[in-house]
Amino acid sequence: MIGCWIGFGVVCFLLLLGWLRRNREGLPFGGGERAGNALVVILGIALPVALLSGLFFWSDIVVIRSTAAPTRGSTRLTVRVIGHQWWWEARYKSTKAVTANEIHIPVRVPVDVVGTTDDVIHSFWIPQLNRKIDLIPGRQNHVLLQANEPGIYEGECAEFCGLQHAHMIATVIADPKPVFRRWLANMAKPVRAPSKPSEERGRGVFLEQGCAECHRLRGTPADGDVGPDLTHLATRRKLAAGTVVNDYVHLAGWVADPQHFKPGNRMPQVPMSGDDFNALVDYLQSLK
Ligand code: CUA
Repeated sequence: MIGCWIGFGVVCFLLLLGWLRRNREGLPFGGGERAGNALVVILGIALPVALLSGLFFWSDIVVIRSTAAPTRGSTRLTVRVIGHQWWWEARYKSTKAVTANEIHIPVRVPVDVVGTTDDVIHSFWIPQLNRKIDLIPGRQNHVLLQANEPGIYEGECAEFCGLQHAHMIATVIADPKPVFRRWLANMAKPVRAPSKPSEERGRGVFLEQGCAECHRLRGTPADGDVGPDLTHLATRRKLAAGTVVNDYVHLAGWVADPQHFKPGNRMPQVPMSGDDFNALVDYLQSLK
């Protein structure tokens, strides 16, 4: 960018000089037609050829290689990302860890993302970290993710995939390595046991009122695979693929009427008593 601005400045300066001296003969610094031709050959041909060739090799060899899809064995962590209407499932290879929409990675570690889809074509794209890949039925596409700074990197589904395409946010959270290891170890664990009577009751509601038919709580009979794995739901920042924050009010609102927040999503409204409902939300909030 700096080089471009300098080049632009030189061109503007020469244009201005040409206009100011439009009625005069010869070059401003002396020399005749030969010097003028030499100037055209150097600035007009030799310099652009050298610069553009240099930039071509830089982008082709250095930049494209550093962002290319990972090859076998070139990365230390593999995350399977599976697109669903309208959320992202993330599975960590060689562990039991499964999560949704918030993909943690360790900082400064190259990660192989293997993208597939469960239904239609989606496109996984974290613009600050790399280019996009399409998630296509029957195919596996790869993209390299590497974050050099800890932080939160957001991306949206980049391929129209139905009614709630706009509410399909993927968040990559780059953690320092010890934080990531703790996070992954916790994600791989089965669900926590309820620690209060209301949570105990909520667990029963979850297993009996239909939640378990679509959602999984690892370590319980709930093993639905229509919606996200909820084993560690309370560790996520947001609900419904970035649609609302994951706090008491929004979680309760979401369970009470999912179609209000995200019309067309596959989660139905489940009728239940007020006490059952409160116990269920208590239980969901305890799933750290
Ligand atoms: Cu998934 Cu658009």
